[in-house]
Amino acid sequence: MLGFDPSTALITGASSGIGEALAYALADRGLDLVITARRAERLAAVKENLEGRVKVVTIPCDLTATGGLEHLIKTLDEADTPIDMLVNCAGLAPHIDFLNADDSSQQDLIALNVTAPTRLISHLLPPMRARGFGSVLNVCSVAAFHPVPSMAQYGASKAYLLSLTEALSEELKGTGVTVCALCPGVTKTESAMTEIVEALPEAMVLAPAAVAEAGLNALDSGEVVCVPGRLNQAAVTAAQFQPRWLVRSLGGLMAKFRTESVATPSHRKDSAKQ
Ligand SMILES: NC(=O)c1ccc[n+]([C@@H]2O[C@H](COP(=O)([O-])OP(=O)(O)OC[C@H]3O[C@@H](n4cnc5c(N)ncnc54)[C@H](OP(=O)(O)O)[C@@H]3O)[C@@H](O)[C@H]2O)c1
Repeated sequence: MLGFDPSTALITGASSGIGEALAYALADRGLDLVITARRAERLAAVKENLEGRVKVVTIPCDLTATGGLEHLIKTLDEADTPIDMLVNCAGLAPHIDFLNADDSSQQDLIALNVTAPTRLISHLLPPMRARGFGSVLNVCSVAAFHPVPSMAQYGASKAYLLSLTEALSEELKGTGVTVCALCPGVTKTESAMTEIVEALPEAMVLAPAAVAEAGLNALDSGEVVCVPGRLNQAAVTAAQFQPRWLVRSLGGLMAKFRTESVATPSHRKDSAKQ
């Protein structure tokens, strides 16, 4: 299945969306779970849903708050449960452009999308390497492959995580530890913009469970980069063969659409039509 017999997975961002789907998919594969996110009641609900199937430990924690990440790492260390699989899924995708974002939201995005996964990888990789097995699944995005005007920092943070994953996959060859970057396109979760989900053809909008399965199957088969969905794969491949100026410009047009969608929610558009 995963090429080894992992027993416990740590999942960040497991209170909803793709992270929650990964929790159920990993439980289906028999792994015990340590799940974390801010909303304690949502983590408790996931734990309750898995009652009697696998062991689930919840660690409510805000990874952008001062001391939040250290609290998570200290709690893991004190529990002394070997983590055989790390899933970095918690992420922020604010729909505000960089120029209008205040300093604290810019720092929060870096803390959650960049610092937390990096620190967890560097903390948990050495024991995995010492045991000679383990895996890391980093939830990136198709946004990792190109700049994203109007969500510039988000795209940059996902490009960082993709690049880190690919480089580590080479450095870890022969160690028994595998890494994979899961790069979904638009997925129907709490943080996906309704206007974008509704504007896209149904075939381009993914379900969290399908994304989770694709990521775990990719890890099983040793893939380093996984883009779920044929249309998303085609879009990513096409973008890689275009000149960067064109990809940037198309990103700028998409940004205008996104900004207008945010400024004019669908219920206001409907009432304007009447
Ligand atoms: N949905 C998409 O279209 C899409 C596309 C590509 C990539 N992704 C990526 O997929 C990942 C999961 O997102 P999702 O779509 O499943 O959205 P989601 O349902 O909103 O999940 C985000 C998760 O991150 C956690 N989180 C947010 N802020 C946090 C904080 N400060 N500290 C700790 N945990 C925090 C949330 O839990 P709490 O609120 O309880 O803290 C939640 O569990 C993200 O990395 C996202 O960038 C999503």
